[in-house]
Amino acid sequence: MRPFGISSKRSSVVSEKDMSILLFNGFLLLGFVVATVPDVLVLGSPGAMQIMDRDPSTKKCHYNRAMSLLEARCSNLELHEIPTHLKADIQVLDATVNRLRELTNDSLALYKNLAYIYLADNFIQNIEEAAFANQLYLEVLDLSQNGCDNLPKNLFQLPYLRTLYLGHNKLTDSVFKVKVTSPLRLLQLTKNKLTRIPNLGAQPNLLRLNVSDNVIVSVSTEDLAPLCSLKELDLSRNIIRFNPGSCDCQMFSAWAKLRQIKIKPDDFYNCTDSPAEDCANMQFSNRTYELYNECSAIIQQEVETEKARSAWILVASCVSVFLFIVFVTLFCVHKRNRRRRRKQKEQQQLTANNANTELLNSNLTAGNS
Ligand SMILES: *[C@@H]1O[C@H](CO)[C@@H](O)[C@H](O)[C@H]1NC(C)=O
Ligand SMILES: *[C@@H]1O[C@H](CO)[C@@H](O)[C@H](O)[C@H]1NC(C)=O
Ligand SMILES: *[C@@H]1O[C@H](CO)[C@@H](O)[C@H](O)[C@H]1NC(C)=O
Ligand SMILES: *[C@@H]1O[C@H](CO)[C@@H](O)[C@H](O)[C@H]1NC(C)=O
Repeated sequence: MRPFGISSKRSSVVSEKDMSILLFNGFLLLGFVVATVPDVLVLGSPGAMQIMDRDPSTKKCHYNRAMSLLEARCSNLELHEIPTHLKADIQVLDATVNRLRELTNDSLALYKNLAYIYLADNFIQNIEEAAFANQLYLEVLDLSQNGCDNLPKNLFQLPYLRTLYLGHNKLTDSVFKVKVTSPLRLLQLTKNKLTRIPNLGAQPNLLRLNVSDNVIVSVSTEDLAPLCSLKELDLSRNIIRFNPGSCDCQMFSAWAKLRQIKIKPDDFYNCTDSPAEDCANMQFSNRTYELYNECSAIIQQEVETEKARSAWILVASCVSVFLFIVFVTLFCVHKRNRRRRRKQKEQQQLTANNANTELLNSNLTAGNS
């Protein structure tokens, strides 16, 4: 009887160990699946909350939490520099309408979680090269209404930067002689000193470009072709002239129509200065197609990567579910076996007891006789 009890205990230990290994693998896999789909994780619900800061060194900036983002509001405080005593984990910084003249390498270095930086309506003329180097999560930057004539090159390489408001500055064409790798979607450049549509290279994400109120003298299909997702282009109040007698205007507006780009001003498509009848057989340049295809190829590649990722996630999910079912089954089987063994044990004990009693009885009977 004793040996049986021991062996039953050992077998149950073994299967419990197997189970825990399987369970561990399953959680690892689940964890991996969750980690590879960060977009699925929804941020906390917006809970508006006002937190007044009582530290006088923050110069009356106050904090606000909206849409789960912590914002420091420092607007209209006559600040000459960005306060250095704000909470380090702010995600939004509003320092609009102040007296900032410069952004140094250190101005924003303390704040590494910023997603939105609003600096409109200051006197910023100089921005040091590493001023935004730490802003790895920056999505939106507003530098409108300042005196910038240059920008740090690495600004255009921030991995999440999608919206740039740069209107009402002194930016020239040379600012954009830089590799733009940020996923820019909106670029506001109204009222600057551009003489052409900025040459940004292939920009598969750019949807809206506003270059109104500049000094642009000419535009061509090759300026538009690398912006293969563009939906809106504002060219108002420039000094654009097409070569008289050429079909450049018709070509430009035909390309815009083909790519469904909404151009302002509305009468830009009219080409009133150019003869229309000679341009029936015009063809877009090979370079135009080349530039456009380069941009589309990037989009295609992104789509394929996304497809591969989705397929992988599906496979991983299926495997996790399968493993989970296996554990549950194993667990149930294990439980049932244990219950059955316990019953068997009890029955054996009972039988043995009965046998003992019988033996005792027969012994007694034998002794009596
Ligand atoms: C700011 O950073 C850039 C690039 O790291 C460096 O070249 C420059 O000297 C720095 N400026 C100052 C004032 O330290
Ligand atoms: C471009 O910017 C100007 C000035 O801010 C604005 O009036 C205009 O509506 C913008 N264009 C588009 C298409 O949004
Ligand atoms: C351009 O064409 C539209 C209609 O296609 C017309 O309403 C508009 O007056 C024209 N503008 C000019 C400046 O010719
Ligand atoms: C464009 O490419 C085609 C063939 O690829 C060639 O025949 C044609 O001459 C090229 N046109 C120009 C303007 O280079």
